[in-house]
Amino acid sequence: MSQKIAFITGGNRGLGFQTALDLKNSDTKIVIGSRDLAQGEQAVEKLRAAGVDADVLQFDITKPADYKAAYDYFNSKYGRLDILVNNAGIAAGKFPGTGPEHSAAEVPTDLLHKVFETNFFAQVALTDALLPLLKKSPAGRIVNLSSILGSLTLHADPKSPIYHAKSFAYDASKTALNAFTVHLAYELRDTKIKVNSAHPGWVKTDMGGESAPMELSEGGKTSAALATLPDDGPSGGYFHLGQPLPW
Ligand SMILES: NC(=O)c1ccc[n+]([C@@H]2O[C@H](COP(=O)([O-])OP(=O)(O)OC[C@H]3O[C@@H](n4cnc5c(N)ncnc54)[C@H](OP(=O)(O)O)[C@@H]3O)[C@@H](O)[C@H]2O)c1
Repeated sequence: MSQKIAFITGGNRGLGFQTALDLKNSDTKIVIGSRDLAQGEQAVEKLRAAGVDADVLQFDITKPADYKAAYDYFNSKYGRLDILVNNAGIAAGKFPGTGPEHSAAEVPTDLLHKVFETNFFAQVALTDALLPLLKKSPAGRIVNLSSILGSLTLHADPKSPIYHAKSFAYDASKTALNAFTVHLAYELRDTKIKVNSAHPGWVKTDMGGESAPMELSEGGKTSAALATLPDDGPSGGYFHLGQPLPW
């Protein structure tokens, strides 16, 4: 088949934008989702100037009407979707931090709901809404932007580098997203669709902050690689730069 069709949510800045750049040479039409259309259009201009075949769709992952709009957009224009990068996400506060949003004992319930709404419930709802189009792809790929902070194994290990990096609302939402990866990959095991969780690294973005060790130019690599996995690539995994992470 000809050019692949990809949808990257939250593609107007940060890792979503970088992932679009990194898919430049993959013969893919990249549609970035952007809550703010003007910001999305500016991002598309930059992507096109860099040689990426890009378009923008106004898209807020917390608005259920936008799932149908996204389905209709891809269905009417292309009749399928090859790549879905579930990149849009929110933090519950600054990293690293000590506020109640980081504490399992003190987290405000409304904040927990808000973070889960964006980072988990909405990701599941969007993916499920677009699955009929991904099933029409000869090689569907779903990339869930998790984080190493979603790893229960590493959080429980006093020797792990993230043992003291706890941010309860965010971390738990990414753990839940990882559960979605495992369950959906199981359900799709007899299809051509691969579903994986990505940890991009701790990256200098608005979310990652200035103390992050990884430059943005490196941060899209894990998502881009999982979005373009070959047919014999893994599904139901959790990866950082090609290396598996413990759940
Ligand atoms: N940076 C890191 O070190 C790091 C590490 C591990 C995992 N991650 C994950 O990687 C993903 C991208 O992170 P980032 O660092 O690029 O964050 P970022 O710089 O804060 O960008 C977040 C993106 O998500 C979009 N977004 C937020 N809420 C949205 C909503 N309701 N609907 C649609 N789009 C929404 C934002 O759009 P607006 O511009 O409209 O706000 C923006 O495009 C997130 O899922 C994050 O959890 C990041």
